[in-house]
Amino acid sequence: MRTISFFSYKGGSCRSTTAYNTIPFIARDLGATENEPIIIIDTDIDSAGMTLLLEQQNDLRGTVDELIIEAEDIEGHNADPEQLGIDRHPFFRKMSKVGRKFALADGTVRLLGSSTAGGKGELSHMEDNLETIKKLCAAYNCRAIIFDTPSGTQFAARRSINASDTVVVCMRPTYQFRTGTKEFLMGEHDHGGKRRYLICPTAVSLRESVILRSRYPQDIKGKIEEEVVNPVNQSFEQGRHKLIDGLLERAEGSMLVGIPEVERFKWSESCLYQLLTDNIDDLNADDTMAIERYELLSRLICEQ
Ligand SMILES: Nc1ncnc2c1ncn2[C@@H]1O[C@H](COP(=O)(O)OP(=O)(O)OP(=O)(O)O)[C@@H](O)[C@H]1O
Ligand SMILES: [Mg+2]
Repeated sequence: MRTISFFSYKGGSCRSTTAYNTIPFIARDLGATENEPIIIIDTDIDSAGMTLLLEQQNDLRGTVDELIIEAEDIEGHNADPEQLGIDRHPFFRKMSKVGRKFALADGTVRLLGSSTAGGKGELSHMEDNLETIKKLCAAYNCRAIIFDTPSGTQFAARRSINASDTVVVCMRPTYQFRTGTKEFLMGEHDHGGKRRYLICPTAVSLRESVILRSRYPQDIKGKIEEEVVNPVNQSFEQGRHKLIDGLLERAEGSMLVGIPEVERFKWSESCLYQLLTDNIDDLNADDTMAIERYELLSRLICEQ
């Protein structure tokens, strides 16, 4: 079972949207089914993200902070799918089935959401309870747990990262993100575990311009390598974590680095893959390019 955090040092860096668009490919690449699903946990307790994208805010049967406090809902129950099917288990019953939002069978993706009215604030048991949740999900052959995390050094972000084997580090290409992301990652060797951190530039405009004598977006790849990837790689050299920069490579014949800017997201957040398969709307060139990139991101996440 894979454990994946969509994280960023600063807010508004596209992490919820990136997760939303990558999940259908992760479900496919990991062979998720209704009985062996993908579990999403919205750990952004102060400002729910994925819960809103999946329109579950009024239909939550349990929230992440409640479950994290009331651990007896997770513990002490039969963790044997042969004896107690996933749909009858009290923990999984607290989740919303949201597969249709990704053009998949409903039970294939299940969400443990976050309250939009603010969390209960008492999260001291979060680490232990996430470990219990991981064991239970592994016993039920869930293919992955995906955390939509808060930003920066917030408590629930730290706990989500600690519980993950892969952290997708979303960053817009700007100075604040480059600097903050580097500083954050340089501090990661103080934290235990063995993780892969995957650099994911987001909302990268393909419109050419010259800014501070640099050509945008041609020079962005070099800037992110020089200011983020190289120093972090140096600091990770002696440690156990690994930095992956596979999304910096350019698509054949284009300047594309990371996830391109998608015009339609100015109006409405969408799962592009679902729009494509349901033929709901005409997709333009940047939508199609973004779909290819979300698919590549899934490959990078799912490869061992
Ligand atoms: N590829 C993209 N191109 C253009 N805009 C994007 C892209 N991805 C996300 N956005 C937009 O950026 C904004 C922030 O995205 P999102 O909510 O996913 O970020 P976040 O990091 O989860 O934010 P928060 O800190 O609020 O949780 C949204 O308006 C979203 O529609
Ligand atoms: Mg978010």
